[in-house]
Amino acid sequence: MGTTVAPNLLGAVSEARQWDRLMQMAKLGAIPGDGVNRACLTELDRQARRLLISWAKPLGLSVSVDAIGNLFLRHEGTERGAAPVLTGSHMDSQPSGGRFDGIWGVVAGLEAVQALRQAGIATRRPIEVVAWTNEEGGRFAPGCMGSMAYAGYRPRDAWDGVTDAEGLTFGAELAKLLASERDIPRRGLGVVDGPAPFAYVECHIEQGPRLEAEGFDIGVVTGIQGSRWFVVEVHGRSDHAGTTPLSLRKDAVQDAIRAITALNALMHDPADLLRFTVARIEVSPNSSNSVAERVRFTIDFRHPEKEVLLERGDAIGRTVAAAMTTCTATVTERFHALPAAFAPDVPDAVERAARAQGLSTLRMSSGAFHDAQFMVPLCPTGMIFVPSRGGVSHHPSEYTSPPQLAAGTRTLAAVLEDLANR
Ligand code: GLV
Ligand code: MN
Ligand code: MN
Repeated sequence: MGTTVAPNLLGAVSEARQWDRLMQMAKLGAIPGDGVNRACLTELDRQARRLLISWAKPLGLSVSVDAIGNLFLRHEGTERGAAPVLTGSHMDSQPSGGRFDGIWGVVAGLEAVQALRQAGIATRRPIEVVAWTNEEGGRFAPGCMGSMAYAGYRPRDAWDGVTDAEGLTFGAELAKLLASERDIPRRGLGVVDGPAPFAYVECHIEQGPRLEAEGFDIGVVTGIQGSRWFVVEVHGRSDHAGTTPLSLRKDAVQDAIRAITALNALMHDPADLLRFTVARIEVSPNSSNSVAERVRFTIDFRHPEKEVLLERGDAIGRTVAAAMTTCTATVTERFHALPAAFAPDVPDAVERAARAQGLSTLRMSSGAFHDAQFMVPLCPTGMIFVPSRGGVSHHPSEYTSPPQLAAGTRTLAAVLEDLANR
């Protein structure tokens, strides 16, 4: 097991180059307050992918794309046919997102591979940097489509009919992206078409407060809590707000409020471990003087324990149904990711690499979901977290400093050297 790092590797990781690339990426979809709005499969997403490729090609990395748009940059290994070490993250953002969520993991992968090459370090195994399609799920729900399809967790075409707010389908938008990337060689789809990677390691900002508050440089991620997403539709009847007596109404807003109140009671957790969020509510006809005939709202529910995730999540449907007084409701689940525990291999490698550089480490689990979750059944998996200022993420003010990011990338470079020589 390689625990010694070539002395020139860490020095070859460039804090300035990485920061400059992140700031170039942040221009694609820049919004006020230093934020980014770069939804997946948009023109901005395509531009970000081209920018990434423009950095990878001069380094001699080979570029390829799979059937769901996952984009790969490959550094060859010395041993023919050896399974690759995979690293990366996503390039799409939240609608009101920051400059680091996702994109840092992709840029860090490229930076680490560039450092290996500049330091003249050959690795036995290939290293592939991946940019997964649609991790956020903000435009097309759910998130993690690219990694789920790669892992064979869902069929490639499972989400073709999913629509965005304008009614455009994921399938059609993906076809457009792939048509625009006809010049990029196609590859098979993950383990559906080929062998599993040797290992997967993903850099990401923490997106929570612990590393900063407790004064640690690097989070050694040991697992990811489970997530379930639902969409609830309450069906009533639209009527005139001035003439229709309350007793005769089927008011979808009123029953939706009852449903959310009942769900808050269902999800009550004195330990404050459970996460329950209703953050998108659509009303139609959305007119102040017409009674609402339809309300559609989303549920994002997370918990580190499988039993709680299953029990309470399964109770959502009957809780909503029982809350209806005059309307009817449908509940549809659209994301189901059980808690994932990482095997010790990669977390141990991350901890060793960080400590060897004099960085302080904290073992922690992730509250956010990540593409890494879907690699767990395929290969040893891990993640490297760096501090998030004030614990803020999914917000324009999300921030991690250039030195903090560089420390994470140096850790990644050492981990890649270690794993790719096993
Ligand atoms: C990922 O963006 C998440 O919502 O956890
Ligand atoms: Mn992310
Ligand atoms: Mn995110």
